[in-house]
Amino acid sequence: MAQKLALVTGAGNGIGAAIAAAARRAGYRVGVMDANAEAARAMASQLGDAIALPCDVTDEKAVDAALATLGGTPDLLVNNAGIVKFGHLLDISVEDFRRVLDVDLVGAYILSRAVGRGMRERGHGNIVSISSINAITPSLGTNAYAAAKGGLVVLTKLLALELGQYGVRVNSVSPGFVDGGMSTAVFANTKIRELRTNAVPLRRLGSVEDIANAVMFLASDASSYIHGQDLGVDGGLVHSLLSQIPRA
Ligand SMILES: NC(=O)c1ccc[n+]([C@@H]2O[C@H](COP(=O)([O-])OP(=O)(O)OC[C@H]3O[C@@H](n4cnc5c(N)ncnc54)[C@H](O)[C@@H]3O)[C@@H](O)[C@H]2O)c1
Repeated sequence: MAQKLALVTGAGNGIGAAIAAAARRAGYRVGVMDANAEAARAMASQLGDAIALPCDVTDEKAVDAALATLGGTPDLLVNNAGIVKFGHLLDISVEDFRRVLDVDLVGAYILSRAVGRGMRERGHGNIVSISSINAITPSLGTNAYAAAKGGLVVLTKLLALELGQYGVRVNSVSPGFVDGGMSTAVFANTKIRELRTNAVPLRRLGSVEDIANAVMFLASDASSYIHGQDLGVDGGLVHSLLSQIPRA
């Protein structure tokens, strides 16, 4: 049987790098896509037998060229690339708002569209997108990031409606507090780290591997009837609001 192929976007660092490594361990040949060319190459060479794909997910032509380099439609697509620019909605620029939407939502659409066509033709495939708990309960100041992540959950449901009949499953994962990637600086502050850890019902921060494990579960046959879902991987955080409010 031919080796399975996975494409992970934003795989040069953080959660994406952990997903790429988990996919490699699960037997996939991995396409390591990242706008940071150096990071894409370093991660691909660290994995061994992987394909570096330096590419911005918002650039349709570059994505098509990267898919040609990959050498075919992947069995697994993980839309993980994402950026955040904090600031109140009334104070940020429209340019910044657009850029975040473009990377976090439109980029996932561009990849899902290009790869989804190949999956539809072949009659199987699996797409997992990395959203955030901000899609469900947005944190003040996350502006376009939260809006994009909410859009990504709905995009997932729409793709599931379109692609299910062709044997293609589509789901998303919504991480909570993750000790790594774009949150590394946040959790370097020991006071914030302690406060946030204590807010999580499981009383620990998530690791990048916790998120990668959830992605690999959704990519595997163990989840063969799970479709169009958003899987929260947050130690119970999203559902803890009322328990954090003092009672008389
Ligand atoms: N770390 C967290 O706390 C956390 C929590 C919830 C959700 N997430 C989500 O997980 C995903 C990964 O985040 P992370 O924490 O690993 O961040 P990260 O910044 O460590 O990694 C993101 C990677 O995406 C790449 N990237 C950025 N823009 C790109 C573009 N236009 N095209 C291609 N690649 C691009 C970056 O170069 C980087 O390597 C993101 O979608 C993020 O929103 C992260």
